[in-house]
Amino acid sequence: MRSTPRPGAVSSTVRRGLVAAAVLAIGSTAAVATATSASAAVSCKVTYSASQWQGGMSANLTVQNLGDALSNWTLTFTFPNSGQKVAQGWSANWSQSGSNVTATALDWNKSLATGASTSLGFNGTWTSSNPSPTDFKINGVSCNGTPQSPSQSPSQSPSRSPSQSPSQSPSQSPSQSPSQSPSQSPSQSPSQSPSYSPPPPGTHVDNPYAGATGYVNPDWSASAKSEPGGSRVANLSTAVWLDRIAAISSGSAGNNSMGLRDHLDEAVKQDAANGSAPLTIQVVIYDLPNRDCSALSSNGELKIANNGLARYKTEYIDVIAGIMADSKYSNLRIVTVVEPDSLPNLITNVSNFQACQEAQSSGAYVQGVQYALNKLHAIRNVYTYVDAAHHAWLGWDTNFGPVVNLFHQVASGTTAGVNSVDGFIVNTANFGATVEPYFTINTSVNGQSVRQSKWVDWNYYVDEQSFAVGLRNALVAKGFPNTLGMLIDTSRNGWGGSARPTGPSTSTNVDTFVNESRVDRRIHAGNWCNQSGAGMGERPRANPVAGLDAYVWIKPPGESDGSSSAIDNNEGKGFDRMCDPTYTGNSLNGNNMSGALGGAPVSGHWFSAQFQQLMQNAYPPLS
Ligand code: BGC
Repeated sequence: MRSTPRPGAVSSTVRRGLVAAAVLAIGSTAAVATATSASAAVSCKVTYSASQWQGGMSANLTVQNLGDALSNWTLTFTFPNSGQKVAQGWSANWSQSGSNVTATALDWNKSLATGASTSLGFNGTWTSSNPSPTDFKINGVSCNGTPQSPSQSPSQSPSRSPSQSPSQSPSQSPSQSPSQSPSQSPSQSPSQSPSYSPPPPGTHVDNPYAGATGYVNPDWSASAKSEPGGSRVANLSTAVWLDRIAAISSGSAGNNSMGLRDHLDEAVKQDAANGSAPLTIQVVIYDLPNRDCSALSSNGELKIANNGLARYKTEYIDVIAGIMADSKYSNLRIVTVVEPDSLPNLITNVSNFQACQEAQSSGAYVQGVQYALNKLHAIRNVYTYVDAAHHAWLGWDTNFGPVVNLFHQVASGTTAGVNSVDGFIVNTANFGATVEPYFTINTSVNGQSVRQSKWVDWNYYVDEQSFAVGLRNALVAKGFPNTLGMLIDTSRNGWGGSARPTGPSTSTNVDTFVNESRVDRRIHAGNWCNQSGAGMGERPRANPVAGLDAYVWIKPPGESDGSSSAIDNNEGKGFDRMCDPTYTGNSLNGNNMSGALGGAPVSGHWFSAQFQQLMQNAYPPLS
């Protein structure tokens, strides 16, 4: 696993442009046209909305098929001005000739049933003005009329009833909303209300962490206890990583030897020993084909070109879901963290990394995540949290809007629609501070916004908590239920110790001010591997602030992010130079030093020196 920033698709200069002009939302809808032919009648609706700033834009389109089922589609439209250009698109193959833009479907979204829709989009540029296009066509037929009812066209196939929208309806049943349990109020955690009584076992509650005890992973706990001072944290709850098919039966990388059933059996025991509080166990689902497509240190065993998606479904997800569905585990609250880094890689890394390109064009990441959500959400006591990277990856507008759309599109394509997702997690295995205590995104120094500093680099967020809340708001606005809960992985983002600032800088230079005030002491916010100087962060706890379900420890502290030098391994993992302390970086970390600790083993393996430093620099400090 690595969590890299990858503002990637957008160059720093374009991002800098974001501040220069107010961001405007523009939109248009070209509704429905029908053309009948001897074969299929095409009838379509395209909505277009773009946010724009001086010289740049990010556009989202939805194509809805109101005609006969389509086995393939091509969308075309014309930019009204010659200066308007597509720079980089997603969820279709994009091309432009003069002002004519063409987007052809990808394998995974090319068939569109009657009533079904799909979302796509692009980042682009413009010169004099940026009017919305209006002449959308699907397969050469204009989408510019009004929706037709079957009675309006004798040529329509009987299947074309306006009520047909298979992808949209299942999620609307109130019975599928996780929000129905009476236990949902965040104020009902036992620590907050002495009269709390846990909901009946097996209820799908809004927040699985509220009122619950966290599972202690005996494998990790033993590693922690083997370290001097480690018993101070060894009874905290950390996640179980299923980082390969074999991990389901015999444990993940490194010191871990317990399989999934071993853990769930042990969780039942811990639950019984707990009294009435329910027990929450966290399991990371992490084996997509072409895993970690933009880096090397956590590459996995499955490859798309080698039947990886089919194997992921049958040998990995089906087996996990089969075990979790066992009735003897039905009183546990099983939280799943779904595929760290995968969907964010589709937003920023497709143009730079062949493995990500393949993940996108084959649809393997989208379909794999949808398959996992379908199987896991179907089990009543399983909770799904989809990985949403971190603020220094997705916090720029040009990445933020597209990832919100992608998350919505992926969830909408599952059987339960947006309700298949209980929440999202940020900062998994990363080092971003939960809160920067001495400045916010609105702080200015001598008339200059902190956004202009080299460290913030025009990002719209300075820390993980503001990012998590902002992302949640955007996802709910997009159509996710208001019960959506966010998690922050705080296992290694404490940044205590002697290097931690104790107050805001008094400098009037914005760069100096930010550098002297920030508690995140990384050399660059894009550094992600075994960061030197990091400490354990907030201990796991439920309901830390409104909108957040919990602070959690997903990356088990002490397990390496990647080897600091090339080491042979049989886990499919490569050598990523971002884990080499002598590496001088690349464009993704501003050509800075990697900031990684030396002497690190392969990812997932125990790294004693790192564990010691994480304890030493814990914030809040360990008692
Ligand atoms: C590794 C996994 C490991 C996980 C937790 C990831 O970076 O690739 O093998 O299980 O971290 O330590």
